[in-house]
Amino acid sequence: MNSLNNKPVGVFDSGVGGLTVAHAIKQIMPDESLVYFGDTAHLPYGDKSEGAIINYSRKITDFLIGHGAKLILIACNSASASAYSVLKNEYGEQVLLLDVISPVIDYVATKKYSRVGVIGTKRTITSGTYEMGFKEKSRGTELVSLATPLLVPMIEEGFIFDDISNAIIRTYLSDKKLEGIQALVLGCTHYPLIRNQISKFYNFDIEVVDSARIVALELKEMLGKNKLLNKGEIKTEDKFFVSDYTTYFEKIARMFFEGGDINLEVADIWN
Ligand code: DGL
Repeated sequence: MNSLNNKPVGVFDSGVGGLTVAHAIKQIMPDESLVYFGDTAHLPYGDKSEGAIINYSRKITDFLIGHGAKLILIACNSASASAYSVLKNEYGEQVLLLDVISPVIDYVATKKYSRVGVIGTKRTITSGTYEMGFKEKSRGTELVSLATPLLVPMIEEGFIFDDISNAIIRTYLSDKKLEGIQALVLGCTHYPLIRNQISKFYNFDIEVVDSARIVALELKEMLGKNKLLNKGEIKTEDKFFVSDYTTYFEKIARMFFEGGDINLEVADIWN
């Protein structure tokens, strides 16, 4: 067995969003350990420039590699749209990299829908990454996209199951652009936290595509192909880092990870 097998998977996002993917990874591959970085000091990424996100992503990638990551999963759509190709060029020889957008595009392409919606941050939507992917992989599908910038701050502030979140969700999803869609892609890893309200808005009639499980399955395949799956002989503890402590991050991380006994540290990598 390759000694890299026992190393953790590095996962990053601007905040709690990537925890939705991290959680799916642990459900599908309980033997894998994780080193997670939530860049809470720079949250939200969706309003930042491409250049800023590339710089954050580089520094976080260095940090995760420094913690022994055998693969870097960019568990953030905004960073996947802005920085994936740059990171691949710069770190591709050193470490495996996976984004959260390509696996979802491949998945939706198999469904042969005629009209699909995608919602995400301003950065993700204006980047056109989903459009380009659909043009290449899913020619028969019309993709309509809508930026929903209030959703990340709303979720990070803990407004999830209340009148405020319902009003915001309803207002966005009532946009004419999204009329007649057969599926809605949640193009932000924070959105699975409000997936239920979104499905409810559509009376559970359309497929709401959440990247967490799709990406975790792709990760499993990638680790398998590269003979990097952890066979469970040596278990290491999951580690969670944030660039700025927030009680909300801790609460959500405890909610997602069994026992709630998580190893959380502040890593001020910016100073
Ligand atoms: N969860 C991230 C995404 O998928 C980041 C959102 C943000 O920080 O704006 O885009």
